[in-house]
Amino acid sequence: MSALAIETTGLTKRFGRQLAVDGVDLAVPQGAVFGFLGPNGSGKTTTIRMLLGLAQASAGEIRVLGEEMPRRLAGVLPAVGALIEGPGFYPFLSGTANLRRLDAADGFAPSASRAARVSHALERVGLTHAAGKKVRAYSLGMKQRLGIANALLAPRELIVLDEPTNGLDPQGTREVRNLIRSLASTGTTVFVSSHLLAEIEQMCTHAAVMSGGRLVAQGTLDELRRAGTTRAQVLVPASDAELAARILVSLGLPPEVLSGPETELTAPIPDGVAPEDVVAALVRDGVRVRGFAVQRASLEDLFVALTGEGFDVVQ
Ligand SMILES: Nc1ncnc2c1ncn2[C@@H]1O[C@H](COP(=O)(O)OP(=O)(O)OP(=O)(O)O)[C@@H](O)[C@H]1O
Ligand SMILES: [Mg+2]
Repeated sequence: MSALAIETTGLTKRFGRQLAVDGVDLAVPQGAVFGFLGPNGSGKTTTIRMLLGLAQASAGEIRVLGEEMPRRLAGVLPAVGALIEGPGFYPFLSGTANLRRLDAADGFAPSASRAARVSHALERVGLTHAAGKKVRAYSLGMKQRLGIANALLAPRELIVLDEPTNGLDPQGTREVRNLIRSLASTGTTVFVSSHLLAEIEQMCTHAAVMSGGRLVAQGTLDELRRAGTTRAQVLVPASDAELAARILVSLGLPPEVLSGPETELTAPIPDGVAPEDVVAALVRDGVRVRGFAVQRASLEDLFVALTGEGFDVVQ
């Protein structure tokens, strides 16, 4: 078995002339909580649909749990739980009745333990109190949770969730986040899409970023943070600003200069330049350095730079 739960090579999907997914190479390690991040229309759902055999790729290769897809789809699907854009529930049936129908449709699920499986899944997503209510009377968030309960009916090696917190209130969002963490703690790989950066930061070990159908970054959250530029921030008396700027330029750090009672100069630190050498050079040439800081880009800075868009703020 491969150490990757999901692996794609050159995965591509065209709709007419539009490239919705463009040569995506995904590598999702087993056991990861993998955030699949990107603005609206960047190709997340289309990618997920191809991973699950719900849409045919125009080009490229897919492996899920080590197996080639879609050739091995039937063998792989029992180990995969999924929630994709609005699962279809019967509005006139209760949550329990809907899950029992779906469980019954799963040829691998023994009927004797069906009732227990369904009530356990409902409990895990916090829907026990509404189990007997008709789905017609569910809020959007409750339907979303019922969809997740469906993905949890059987023990899974991989759970794929497309925007699972869409439409949830802050309390529901927290519950889903905790649920995802608890799934991960049992060793299940979770692949979760979102356009909310803060959410991904709070629950994921790894992330990939989509922009316009292309994968523009992927790795552990720490790796992604390191990929952001690091900036030097120098505070000097106004009278030393010109000299400081000249020295920074000579070191390859052309600064932005902000004047106030003190002058603040900031500049990206190029690879191979140590921050302490910047301070040393300034001091050696007589700049009275009053403050020096190294600012690491936040993930948000990085993602804005990668996708050219801001991300929604999660409350
Ligand atoms: N069935 C389809 N036919 C034609 N174009 C489609 C189809 N499905 C998706 N697209 C287009 O492919 C692009 C990617 O869409 P997709 O739904 O994968 O994005 P997404 O990242 O999931 O967005 P969102 O955050 O809004 O869910 C969009 O431009 C969309 O309009
Ligand atoms: Mg989508």
